[in-house]
Amino acid sequence: MSTTFTLDTSTSRAHPTPAPMKRLTVPAIGKRKGGEPIVMLTAYTARMAQLLDPHCDVLLVGDSLGQVIYGLPSTLQVTLDMMCAHGAAVVRGSYHSVVIIDMPFGSYEQSPEQAFASASRIMAETGAAGVKLEGGEAMAPTVAFLSQRGIPVCGHVGLTPQAVNALGGYGARGRSPEEEAKILRDAKAIADAGAFLLVIEGVVEPIAAAITKAVACPTIGIGASVDCDGQVLVIDDMLGMFERTARFVKRYDDLAARIASAAESYAAEVRSRSFPTAAETYAPK
Ligand code: KIV
Repeated sequence: MSTTFTLDTSTSRAHPTPAPMKRLTVPAIGKRKGGEPIVMLTAYTARMAQLLDPHCDVLLVGDSLGQVIYGLPSTLQVTLDMMCAHGAAVVRGSYHSVVIIDMPFGSYEQSPEQAFASASRIMAETGAAGVKLEGGEAMAPTVAFLSQRGIPVCGHVGLTPQAVNALGGYGARGRSPEEEAKILRDAKAIADAGAFLLVIEGVVEPIAAAITKAVACPTIGIGASVDCDGQVLVIDDMLGMFERTARFVKRYDDLAARIASAAESYAAEVRSRSFPTAAETYAPK
């Protein structure tokens, strides 16, 4: 049977018939607490979303795109415009995964109202199912404000990259009893405020396991613990696109070397005039 596409003009998204897979929902992800581990990866483009979608439960359009796609020094320079453009592309490229979009630095911290304005723009322009924001106790009222108004929120505690200047770097968190207690309080506050999912990044392992036991929503670990309810990695890190990555990254490929090798072969063939051949050129009629 051939596939036909209908264009949804509100999201610019092409819906295939027959649908390859039914899209998961936020409540379905919430029910995975303590059950089958949740598979989450970042995605920033439509084509990557198409490739990852059948294997993932959640696709995160992370503000890590600042460094990964734009070569920025940190996530602090990422804008709402960037998140909306890449978020819409990932929604267009996926049919199965729940798509969550990071709220960029400066778009939500000022007040719950500011956060609602930014989050509702993200949701309307992308068609995503929810947003993610960083922070602990101080952000709990904002998480409650958004959740109670129909915007599913994923929290993010522990190592929160948007706070790199306040934290003094990207090192693992929770090495002192005071820091450990603070991260636990942060996680509970965000979960109790209504977050449907909680990313725990870069904390010493027992803290992530303790948070996972203590909160009602599923937890997603990155540099955290195998006991979390799911795991996330930055896609370019796990594909081996960068020479240097954090200790918690496992490389599942060495794509940087394979791309360099393909470019080297192409360059050699162009220079030796062995590309294009008859197979890649149009003959006259
Ligand atoms: O921006 C991002 O990619 C993230 C993940 C690392 C969790 O927040």
